[in-house]
Amino acid sequence: MSAERKEEDTVVCEIENQIAWVRFNRPEKRNCMSPKLNRRMMRVLKDIEFREDVGVLVLTGEGTAWSAGMDLKEYFRATEAQGLGAIREAQGEAYGWWRKLRWYQKPTIAMVNGWCFGGGYGPLHACDLAFAAEDAQFGLSEINWGILPGGGATKVATNLLNMRNAMYHALMGENIDGKTAAKWGLVNEAVPQASLKKRVTEVADTLLEKNPVALKATKDAIRRVMEMTYDNAEDFLIRAQESANFFDNQGRKAGIKQFIDEKTYKPGLGAYDKSKQAD
Ligand code: ACO
Repeated sequence: MSAERKEEDTVVCEIENQIAWVRFNRPEKRNCMSPKLNRRMMRVLKDIEFREDVGVLVLTGEGTAWSAGMDLKEYFRATEAQGLGAIREAQGEAYGWWRKLRWYQKPTIAMVNGWCFGGGYGPLHACDLAFAAEDAQFGLSEINWGILPGGGATKVATNLLNMRNAMYHALMGENIDGKTAAKWGLVNEAVPQASLKKRVTEVADTLLEKNPVALKATKDAIRRVMEMTYDNAEDFLIRAQESANFFDNQGRKAGIKQFIDEKTYKPGLGAYDKSKQAD
């Protein structure tokens, strides 16, 4: 397909067994993020966020790339030619869907199948979990073409990597493979390309067994408390739990009952049976 791919074709979404497989779909451009793709991704994320048949979202890429970062031609050069208004508009579209993904209603998994560069670190960090192919390649290549890792990429590097690795990664412009990315904490695990989808499906299926209200409360809490003092976190967590009870007061009661009274499961070894909880 030519570079003239229509906006609606830049992202693909398939829902299967409660997992939404969302794919960057510009393989001929290594899935780099153009304004069209950014707009389409926001639309797709909004459309499926509250669907009852979606419990987990997986973000992956079509072809050899996860995402080669921002589209240097359409995101940078074309918008810069139009002036500051267009630049800010394009930034807002990109950062907007990454922010939506960071605070998404459903748990999210980045399945990094190939190249992941620069701006790609925004959605990578926005996903709650990340699994990579061992031969995937990660790079803060900004330094190689003369800019600093903007668009949140420097923040992502310092959030996920220790200071020495963040500095080396950003200054040297060398790529690391999936195995090193896992060792450095950029992703949870690296597995052979051939078993990547199987491993991600396994993880998604485990998440699907959990209480969805507790999942949302937990993922938000992890991101929020990272920036709080201990005392502020303690207070926030009391309130977060109490507000989660407002949305689901039966789930935790069923969880306690099935363990203490019915002895049908052990929370230390797995999840309670959601199908047996009262509404
Ligand atoms: N922006 C614009 N076009 C891109 C980008 C990008 N980020 N990445 C790839 N493309 C285009 C290429 O220009 C090429 O287009 P063409 O077919 O019209 O010539 C097409 O995608 C295929 O790219 P190739 O380079 O031929 O693919 P190859 O598999 O050999 O290499 C690689 C893949 C290593 C990812 C290479 O394309 C590359 O270095 N891309 C840029 C990566 C990068 O530095 N991204 C920016 C990070 S900084 C930021 O996001 C702010």
